[in-house]
Amino acid sequence: MQQDFTRFHAEAQAADDQAINPTGDADLGALVDRGRRNLLKGGLGMAAFGFLAGGLGLSRQARADGLIGFSGVPTQHALDFDRVIVPPGYSARPFFSWGDAVLADAPAWNPDASDDWQAQLKQAGDNHDGMHFFPFPDAPDDHGLLVINHEYVNPTLHPAGMTFVDGRRPLDEVRKEQAAHGLSIIEVKKDAQGRWQRLLPSRYNRRLSAMTPMRLSGPLAGHDAMKTAADPEGLEVIGTLNNCSSGFTPWGTYLICEENWHNYFINRDRDDFARRVSHKRYGLASEGTSKLYAWETADPRFDATPDAAQPHGGYVNEPHRFGWVVEVDPFDPDSQPVKRTAFGRYCRECSVLSLGPDGRMAVYSGDDTKGEYVYKFVPTGRFDAANPRASRDLLDEGTLYVARFDEGGQGQWLALVHGQNGLTAENGFASQAEVLLNARAAADRAGATPMDRPEWVAVHPTTREVYVTLTNNDGRGSKQPVNAANLRPANLHGHILRWNEAGGDPTAITFEWELFLLAGEQPGARDAGGQPVPANLIGTVDGDIFSSPDGLAFDGEGRLWIETDYEDSEAPMQAMGCNQLLCADPRTRQVKRFLVGPRGCEITGITWSPDYRAMWINVQHPELSYPASDGKTRPRATTVLITRDDGGVIGS
Ligand code: FEO
Ligand code: CA
Ligand code: CA
Ligand code: CA
Repeated sequence: MQQDFTRFHAEAQAADDQAINPTGDADLGALVDRGRRNLLKGGLGMAAFGFLAGGLGLSRQARADGLIGFSGVPTQHALDFDRVIVPPGYSARPFFSWGDAVLADAPAWNPDASDDWQAQLKQAGDNHDGMHFFPFPDAPDDHGLLVINHEYVNPTLHPAGMTFVDGRRPLDEVRKEQAAHGLSIIEVKKDAQGRWQRLLPSRYNRRLSAMTPMRLSGPLAGHDAMKTAADPEGLEVIGTLNNCSSGFTPWGTYLICEENWHNYFINRDRDDFARRVSHKRYGLASEGTSKLYAWETADPRFDATPDAAQPHGGYVNEPHRFGWVVEVDPFDPDSQPVKRTAFGRYCRECSVLSLGPDGRMAVYSGDDTKGEYVYKFVPTGRFDAANPRASRDLLDEGTLYVARFDEGGQGQWLALVHGQNGLTAENGFASQAEVLLNARAAADRAGATPMDRPEWVAVHPTTREVYVTLTNNDGRGSKQPVNAANLRPANLHGHILRWNEAGGDPTAITFEWELFLLAGEQPGARDAGGQPVPANLIGTVDGDIFSSPDGLAFDGEGRLWIETDYEDSEAPMQAMGCNQLLCADPRTRQVKRFLVGPRGCEITGITWSPDYRAMWINVQHPELSYPASDGKTRPRATTVLITRDDGGVIGS
């Protein structure tokens, strides 16, 4: 029997959309570098250089005009549109697709039959998302490691789709789905003709998956809440799930973020579920099957129903072991990934680091669910470029904050620290470990501002101004009240906010914020109250309208790149055509459309070579037969390489 997964993407999106924040109806009262990355060869043992030192970020000031130098591309509305288009003078080529070899002995991807899970562990996973290019210091513009998240899997992973046999998922299918999650690390290099190629074999190439053992560190490592029947010490987790966007550090490591991990678990004990904030507040299933793949029918680790007959209640704590940041050293293929619990546990979209001149830093994240929050983690220690080895465990100790956006453009970072902001035992937080484990509930208690699905954060390479995409929230005005920072009722198209930390200090606890732009608005638009939308808030100077900003990143010259994720065949998004990549000038709010992707996909993930003459983006969950475009082959999530035909800087 084959389950009906035909509405799969809509369901996956709907799961993302669930508003489970109980503060939604609270009285909200007053609410209303990417510089050049000189990274280390051979892991942390080699010298790391300053995060923003050198490169385009500081060598040239953003020009007074003409920051955006390409001709915008038109929207694409054809239902059979199955290509990537870029401006005249640019080329886009598929570079790394689901099923491509990562390890040298991987079998060739088979379009007609299903490779088994052992093969999948050696091939590119599915649904490429966040990624980062780590250059080798001896030839940074020509040679590096491309690190790519595989967020989740599509039914097309199997030629006949996802199946059930006697009410259970076949274990071989589940294992393949688990193998297609995680991360690919691939070595890439320019050839003699100057064309970027994937290198194979490579001693750096590596796949991480939902089956890879990972070490727990920080305040929750070894805690009772992390112990399971299979891991009585609470120190080692099998795998990482739903790796959406990401981040990177100045000491040369990659930060995987675990987003919608709750969709993989179920707790069928209604009473236990109702009492257990650590399950309920995150929206685990409590009846039927887990929300995405029903893995628990084949793999008991995903059944979080308490089982008193097993040590540590069986797998009731297994969901506690996801929702973290996972730090990976791409230059050390033998290193074990580490789940950093000091960051707090929620549905984490991204982890974007801002480094101050004195080595202090903040790591920003969004929790992409309706009415959830924007967070930052401030490590206690400082980054020391002269001694990068000392940074190895910098992310294990620090302070987690959540944002409150006040009326009038003032903002406050609220510390999620036991004993502060109402986070006491009498309010249900017995220790700092419980604050971190239940970060959403802690943020509720502290009085954070419920947002319209915060996705990516980007930090300007020279000013350190911070931007966040709020992708959309059709429940705003009904499930959550309108506030100053989330001002549109039934916000179908999303918006982008920006702020400056007090004194330009990433660790400050106050900030000044403003709206950067409202997506989906045309000049002359009126808001829900019939008032004209101020022209300076409309990011459509060239008529390049878009919806649902998601991916967001600055290049070294301060162009802001915006990637979209909406249901492109459904009204009212149809007006925007297929999903797209746009480029904005943060000073003028000019927005130009740079790229349009194939039907049904989301455009996500973005990274550059250090000279910004090569750009990689990801086409996730295309619907037709991209990249083959033959109308027959199964569609494949694909990393796309974009270059300028004259070799120039992308976007200039
Ligand atoms: Fe995986 Fe919120 O995007
Ligand atoms: Ca996203
Ligand atoms: Ca999204
Ligand atoms: Ca996605």
